[in-house]
Amino acid sequence: MAPPRKLHIKSYGCQMNVYDAQRMVDVLTPEGFVETASVDDADLVILNTCHIREKASEKVYSELGRLRLARDAAAQAGRTMQIAVAGCVAQAEGEEIVRRAPVVDVVVGPQSYHHLPQLLARANAQGRALETEFPVEDKFGFLPQPAPATIRARGISAFVTVQEGCDKFCTFCVVPYTRGAEVSRPVAAILADVERLADNGVREITLIGQNVNAYHGDGPDGRAWTLGRLLQRLAAVPGIVRLRYSTSHPNDVDDDLIAAHRDLAALMPFVHLPVQSGSDRILAAMNRKHSAADYRRVIDRFRAVQPQIAFSSDFIVGFPGESDVDFAATLALVTQIGYAGAYSFKYSPRPGTPAADMQEMVPAAVLDERLERLQQLIDAQQSAFNKAAIGQTVDVLFERAGRKPGQIVGRTAYLQPAHVFPPPGMESDALVGQVLPVRIDSLERYSLLGELAATPPQHARPLAATGA
Ligand code: 5AD
Ligand code: SF4
Repeated sequence: MAPPRKLHIKSYGCQMNVYDAQRMVDVLTPEGFVETASVDDADLVILNTCHIREKASEKVYSELGRLRLARDAAAQAGRTMQIAVAGCVAQAEGEEIVRRAPVVDVVVGPQSYHHLPQLLARANAQGRALETEFPVEDKFGFLPQPAPATIRARGISAFVTVQEGCDKFCTFCVVPYTRGAEVSRPVAAILADVERLADNGVREITLIGQNVNAYHGDGPDGRAWTLGRLLQRLAAVPGIVRLRYSTSHPNDVDDDLIAAHRDLAALMPFVHLPVQSGSDRILAAMNRKHSAADYRRVIDRFRAVQPQIAFSSDFIVGFPGESDVDFAATLALVTQIGYAGAYSFKYSPRPGTPAADMQEMVPAAVLDERLERLQQLIDAQQSAFNKAAIGQTVDVLFERAGRKPGQIVGRTAYLQPAHVFPPPGMESDALVGQVLPVRIDSLERYSLLGELAATPPQHARPLAATGA
């Protein structure tokens, strides 16, 4: 038998890429590949790239420079190292990648990962292979399922893609071009994935998609199901105790999604709802198709049915034409909403997007200053949110052993890491996959430290039997 070939995948960017990296492993495992943490001993290195901002995009080329050296070293040792570029830079730049970095053997867009084995073979025979079209066939249907042992090794929390692509065309964003038009997977396929994950120990599912609440997949009744309906169905899968979804657009929050937050104990009260700006003028220029007041109303609808709910968001500072007054409106919105955390980015013009042609660029110094001020405000809100947990008893889903011996780490409903030491005699492994109340005593940077507030069962129940 041939020895296994070693595969190293480096992922950049969003959760979708983390998920896609796992799918690539699932495609390549039957071909005899095993994962390695080291680039140097890899037979195949895949860069799973992100194109969302210029910085993310440029990282690919500096990484390819380093990989050229690793490949030369491998060649000197008599080994062949293949190099593939996947993800959104592959999709957007295609041939340009090979021109700038001839070291690349394969360029593969996110719609074509199921063709990786053929592309690698083609690169072997012809020196290079590129595939970045949007094939008509459904790529979801062609991706192999991970083996039970692989699912278990990946832990108790899993992502499941429910839709891909986006039809919103925000003027700054490359996603509609790199990931294509919005496509939803059928309910039955998602349900089968979730049941299989749950049967193999997964307790928490995060449904992902570039515009996840635009979900409208075919249901078993022949109708299009909303995300709310899908969540309702998945909450009934035995073993699934927590559900999340990301990333949402404010305009696609419908009554079903609000009802899901009202009715489903498994649906975590933590929603990532990007708004990008608090200025109506800038929101219009961004083609967001909502005002700041519309966004606040959406937040209020969630809060009305689920008082525990907390929000995170994304912001862009320095969109072309953003004035001091516009920026002040963003700060005001953040102050009004009160976030548990948020990401903020400097505007980065992306080739091919409408905003890239807009003139009035905000000077770099102003951009830096605005980013700093916004981040300070968000950091203060995040610290206050985390501090508020001290003295409270909160549910924690335990995930894995902590860094200190005997310690175990889990996450709260708000994804805050929580660390505890189980009582003497209790193996921390027995807690993995369980949701238990923890009294929070203190905060260490972003992590909560506390003690179990209830005695867990002495023996872990068989994972598959812990119903929701
Ligand atoms: N410049 C800066 N930030 C951007 N984002 C998307 N495109 C750009 C861009 N051109 C941010 C948005 C989005 C997040 C994923 O990345 O805030 O919600
Ligand atoms: Fe990009 Fe999100 Fe706008 Fe779609 S909704 S275009 S993914 S920012």
